[in-house]
Parts: sequence; C-alpha cells; structure tokens
Amino acid sequence: MRPKSHFNPKPANAIGIFDSGIGGLTVAKAINDLLPNEKIVYFGDTAHMPYGEKSAHAIQSYAIEITRFLMEQNCKLVVIACNSASASALKQVQSMLPDKQFVINVIDPVVQHITHDSKHKKIGLIGTKRTVSSAVYKKKIEKADTGQVLKSLATPLLAPMIEEGFFNNKISKTIVHSYLENPHLLGIQSIVLACTHYPLIMSEISSFYKGKVDIINSAAIVSEAVKSFLNKHELLNASMAQPKHAFYVSDYTESFEQTAKIFFGSSLKLKEKNLWK
Ligand code: DGL
Repeated sequence: MRPKSHFNPKPANAIGIFDSGIGGLTVAKAINDLLPNEKIVYFGDTAHMPYGEKSAHAIQSYAIEITRFLMEQNCKLVVIACNSASASALKQVQSMLPDKQFVINVIDPVVQHITHDSKHKKIGLIGTKRTVSSAVYKKKIEKADTGQVLKSLATPLLAPMIEEGFFNNKISKTIVHSYLENPHLLGIQSIVLACTHYPLIMSEISSFYKGKVDIINSAAIVSEAVKSFLNKHELLNASMAQPKHAFYVSDYTESFEQTAKIFFGSSLKLKEKNLWK
C-alpha cells in the first residue's frame, strides 16, 4: 500500500500504530503477542498529550501529520490506538490512504464485540472527555439496535496519571475507585475501557468490581481485528526473522520511557521525532 502523496519505493511491511502517548502500547503489545513476526512502528504524540482535552480539529491535524510519517515508514496498515483520535479523526486518516480499509480504529471492533454478544443490556464506559462527548460508542451501539444501554463517564485524570507512572499504587486505586463509585455507573454488567491507557490500571478496576462486572479491554479485541485484516488481505509477514520494531515520541520524557519499558519490555528504545518542528 502507498500513501496518496508520499511515495516510498520500499515495500510496505510494518504495522503503524499511534496514540497520544503510552496508551497505544497496550494495543502494540497485544499485536506483538498475537503476531510476533510483524514489525511495529509506533508513534506516541507526547508533545500533544492528553488528546482527551483537545478539540476534534486539533486532534485531526495531529493525526494527519502522524499518518503521513507512518506511511513514510513503509506501513502496510495504520492502527489508531487511541479512542479520542478514533472518535475525532478516523475519516481524515482514512482519506490519506488509497483504501480506507487500511485503517483500523479502536472503536469499531469493540462495538462489534459488544453488540455481537448482547447478553449484557446495561454497559458502562469510561474514557476521555473527547471520547465521551463525541458519543460515538453510544451512536454505534444504538445503531446496532440490540436493546443495549450505554452509561458513559468521562474520567480525565486517568490518562495523565498513568502517563506519569501512577498505576498499581494507593493513589491510583483511590482515584479509580472514586470515579467508579459514580452513581451513573450503578447496575452495569460490563464496562468498556474506552481509553487505551486504561489496561494499565486493570488491577485497580478489577479490585473495585471483584469479578461482578465484565471488563472489556480493547487491546486484545483490536489485535484480533488486525490479524484477521492482514490475513484477509494476504499481508501477514511470512518471514520468521525477529522484526525490529521502532518507537517514536514527539517529545521525549524520561517518565514515558520508564513506563513504556515496564510495559512493553526493557528492549524498547524511544527515538524523539518532532513532526511539528
Ligand atoms: N489513550 C488515549 C485514548 O484512548 C487518550 C489519552 C489522552 O491523550 O487523553 O483516548
């Protein structure tokens, strides 16, 4: 696949993944676990993080630059590993590629998962202000007409807290629990983690629900969608050689590198690449 305006003579071979920061690594890790032969080029836009507080227009302009960069890196597919960007900039990213199918967002596979097995009628959702105010999950679930009701809550402190390395500790537990105690979420049977940062606070969320509510983590669902896409388009990498992943951030911070290493593995090396300079 070639970007519309950025011809690169090398064959497209990598999976391009982007997020505002570390959150998309939860998706990258799930893809790497499921498809260990695939090369990943990751871009975390730490200079503009948090996306959840930005306007749709700003997120669209960041997503366009990042997609251009990923296409220049010979990506065969772009994964928008960010709910806020999937909610605001999907069309813009799709319009940059020769075929809109070559973009996988984190929202559609999760909505399909929820509506396919519609035994849970009252579903909770936590995400950024941008994702919740877009109401995109709600509209898509209503469109499926399964009689399911979505109760969404914006939890803006969570992504910056995780980005700063606050997870699996007392502070993160207190903040997560005080959000989940919100009466709006009372009586839910499952909860969507509609921010790719949130798998990192899975233990705080599980300790709150104690197994009584199903926790829907998009990372594994999206990695399956990536696998079936590559399979369908005969784009799976046949080589058994260990791929050399590349991880870029628009603004290098030590806390990002530390958290990224804890999460993805110590071999991870971050390169700073500011696309806006
Ligand atoms: N990880 C991102 C998401 O899924 C957003 C975090 C942020 O930058 O606000 O929405």
